[in-house]
Amino acid sequence: MNPTIPPPTSYDVVAYPSYTHPQTHPGRLGVIGELFGLAPARADRCRVLELGCGNGSNLVPMAEGLPGSEFVGIDLAARPVAHGQCMIQDLGLRNIRLQQGNLTEINQDWGKFDYIIAHGLFSWVPAGVREEMFRLCRRHLQPQGLAFISYNSLPGSHLRLMLREMMLFHVRGIADAPERIRQALALTRFLAESQIARDEYQLWMKAELERILEHEAGHIFHDELAEFNQPCFFTQFVEQAGRHGLQFVGEADFFEMSTHGFTESACASLTQIGPNRLLREQYLDFLKCRRFRQTLLCHQEAALKPEAQAEAVVNLLVASQAKCASDEGAAHPGPARVYTTPKGATCTTDFPLGQAALSVLEQHWPMPLPFAELARLAVSHEAQTCGAPRPEGGASPQLAAFLLELFGAGLVEFRTCLPPIARVASERPVASPLARSQAQHGDVVSSRFHQAVKVEDEVGRFLLIWLDGTMDRPALSEKIRALFQARDTQAFSDPEDPATVQKIRLELEQNLAKLAGLGLLVA
Ligand SMILES: C[S@@+](CC[C@H](N)C(=O)[O-])C[C@H]1O[C@@H](n2cnc3c(N)ncnc32)[C@H](O)[C@@H]1O
Repeated sequence: MNPTIPPPTSYDVVAYPSYTHPQTHPGRLGVIGELFGLAPARADRCRVLELGCGNGSNLVPMAEGLPGSEFVGIDLAARPVAHGQCMIQDLGLRNIRLQQGNLTEINQDWGKFDYIIAHGLFSWVPAGVREEMFRLCRRHLQPQGLAFISYNSLPGSHLRLMLREMMLFHVRGIADAPERIRQALALTRFLAESQIARDEYQLWMKAELERILEHEAGHIFHDELAEFNQPCFFTQFVEQAGRHGLQFVGEADFFEMSTHGFTESACASLTQIGPNRLLREQYLDFLKCRRFRQTLLCHQEAALKPEAQAEAVVNLLVASQAKCASDEGAAHPGPARVYTTPKGATCTTDFPLGQAALSVLEQHWPMPLPFAELARLAVSHEAQTCGAPRPEGGASPQLAAFLLELFGAGLVEFRTCLPPIARVASERPVASPLARSQAQHGDVVSSRFHQAVKVEDEVGRFLLIWLDGTMDRPALSEKIRALFQARDTQAFSDPEDPATVQKIRLELEQNLAKLAGLGLLVA
């Protein structure tokens, strides 16, 4: 008997551009759980289920980086799943399974999971499937497990719905997928170019239309023109979750719960709302005009703390890309200094131990440091630069509270476990097999920090492909020389020429350091 071939879905017809979602990694989900008093499973020894996993772009890198954990994905569309299954086979991964099917078919045989992820699914499926997502989270989550569900939230989504309705009107009666995309883009371009920006409505429209025009065609087809796109208020979402025995833990991006950056009076008004966290979150959505949420849920019976606990920070690993605005400040902790990250997060602090910790973290970026090690290094940095030794053990609570505040402001990152990467390139460097395979098809690869990384440099991309652990520095240098020679036949023809040797050695070391810094090399 032939196996039944599932009918093609819209995701079989037009591919959805999928990438890794760093905020869904169990090592990051676990952080939020720990801060609010849960005891989630360790990322390197857990079971993860992803609903609507597509081609496994999110799950495969996790499985490759966490060989002691088990990953299961399900998606209705057969084509992306088959694509992901090929990748899993090529990489020889044994701790991951992708299955074509409807999430409504998941039954007891699938067992319990420590983490359940549903990214970009909830708002785009019919009401019955949304209900089933909560039901299965309740049924399949371990007692201390965490579910991640992202969804379009109100009031912010009203703005986006307005444009969606215009697009749907314009493509009415068009069944052909490429033509729907073409027409939706034509309307968006027409509207964007015709806005004279006379009033606030037109100003906002122009910005929003230009944002849509930056999207890939597959995103426009599935996100804007989808049959379902049902946003909801945060309180509606948590009420529905509550009816299924689930409660709100927090947002996957911790800074999204913070009032950092709002006026003092806005923060004071939010505090007056009282101890009801859920209501405070709802008013934050009004303040931020939030359009998208990434909410973590757990069992209603789990004992949660009402606020994030600074004590929990001592069990975590810390990383930060923040730099002191003045060079002098980086070297000498002292009076108020301003710190910023490349993404624009900023803070001012006059806490010398905090300044010392940020200086240590900057030196170690992108490697996360266990809190105890960071505290030790920060104390010694502070003593060296300020000459005032701290009493033994007195630093931890203050430093933990400081780091939690910075986590809320988006200046530091926390993890529950160290990613398996090589900090420096070894004698015969090895790149992650997944990144090597991805580099053969394009310049976007998945790092062991679970981030989509663009390797724009041609030498860097070729190095990734070659770094299988068999080549030493002379062999890699010769490969680079041949690459350069192919570009410019005259300049690099003599492998003995000292200038050539020097240039290539520099090129090799710089690129290896860059790849190590991006979390693409493995031990
Ligand atoms: C917008 S895409 C998101 C893909 C991926 N999670 C991401 O965020 O990049 C939604 C995915 O959910 C899948 N899907 C929709 N309804 C489903 C269902 N009832 N059961 C399983 N998968 C479903 C679609 O086939 C599609 O691959």
